[in-house]
Amino acid sequence: MRVEPAAALVGGVAVPAVKGICQRGALLAAIADGTSELRNFGHAADTDSALEAVRTLGAAVSEPESGAVRIEGRGLRGLAEPDGPIDCGNAGTVLRLLSGVLAGQTGRYELIGDASLSSRPVRVDEPLAQMGARVETTDGRPPVTIEGAGEALRPIRYELPVASAQLKSSVLLAGLLANDGPTTVVEPQPTRDHTERLLQSLGLRLTRAGKEIRVWPAERIPPLSLEIAGDFSSAAPFLVAATLLSGSELRLQGVNVNPTRTGLLDVLERMGSRVAVFNRHSAGGEPVADLDVRSAPLVATAVTADEVPRLVDELPLFALAASQARGESVVEGAQELRVKETDRIETVTTSLRALGVRITATEDGFRVRGVPARPQGGRMSAAGDHRIAMLGAIAGLVSRDGVEIEGAEAVDISFPGFFELLESVTQR
Ligand code: S3P
Repeated sequence: MRVEPAAALVGGVAVPAVKGICQRGALLAAIADGTSELRNFGHAADTDSALEAVRTLGAAVSEPESGAVRIEGRGLRGLAEPDGPIDCGNAGTVLRLLSGVLAGQTGRYELIGDASLSSRPVRVDEPLAQMGARVETTDGRPPVTIEGAGEALRPIRYELPVASAQLKSSVLLAGLLANDGPTTVVEPQPTRDHTERLLQSLGLRLTRAGKEIRVWPAERIPPLSLEIAGDFSSAAPFLVAATLLSGSELRLQGVNVNPTRTGLLDVLERMGSRVAVFNRHSAGGEPVADLDVRSAPLVATAVTADEVPRLVDELPLFALAASQARGESVVEGAQELRVKETDRIETVTTSLRALGVRITATEDGFRVRGVPARPQGGRMSAAGDHRIAMLGAIAGLVSRDGVEIEGAEAVDISFPGFFELLESVTQR
């Protein structure tokens, strides 16, 4: 795929639904009582992995009208034991959150993933074993086998060793299935709270006090009826492109602006961006808004460890924004990037350097020398990583010569139709 330089982004777009809410919704619906409906479901490889997983576990999935996914719940401990493994594909969220749900079932389950997921740390094995499930990994990595503890699952108090919403959510979901008393998760820093909001919106008992989140066992989970707004992480490439391309005037409609996800807005704002957030409302217990983005010259900034969880998936795009911000920008405390779909410290620095950006990797982040001029462009590889493919596309728009992306189809993991939607608002 080749992306040619652009003059501006003009018009309006609505991006696909929050991936993590589609996945959480599917997993919870599978253990709910009755029929759940997830409206504006965003089909992509990662969200379809969640649907396929619950189907494998015996929950019927249908789509009577386009975009509205229905799931027949099997009740709290009613998931079937499948004949073969459950394939989580590229989706860490599915693997980790589903493990939490399976810890409270009675069967034996095997979870597998693609080459990328199979190289990433599972992490949930330790707390789920503490709760009484039998969890085996392959040297800490998938495949994972889980023998659920059923009603014998015990509540725990668990201090997260790293700020991870997936790990937190896995333990909270297991806590819903524990036999007696609350399960407590202590977060080193706040991470995305979609799971907490979803459980609360279902009327389940969950409290948050400071760094502690506490969930009580559920007697039953009522069916979900959810309208899912646009994913901030899918809006982010458009946001960065419109900021960098002078003359841009872009409206992003119906974006989930959960404050645990919008760190990029704050970081760009102090760099000088011009983004208006308006038409705020709430849907399914989550804040939603429209964003108007105009281009603006940027100045360098530092992203510190405490900010990282709020823009962890947007740090690749931050690197590109920083490449055109006057001065040296730096990201620190982002070692988690090393265990994402790829080692993103490596893939971001290698791919952007190939396009003429002055960026160097550090142990826990990167440094970028910004100049208010277009990078040259050239060829880069997505390395099978959807966020790197989208980074390449935006780099192409803001470059002098265009960018050729190897493996651009990786965008299908979170955002099929990305290139077409981008093209629809691109002026050359
Ligand atoms: C996610 C949490 C984050 C994020 C990932 C999705 C989630 O991962 O990077 O893309 O849905 O909870 P970690 O929990 O590993 O930080």
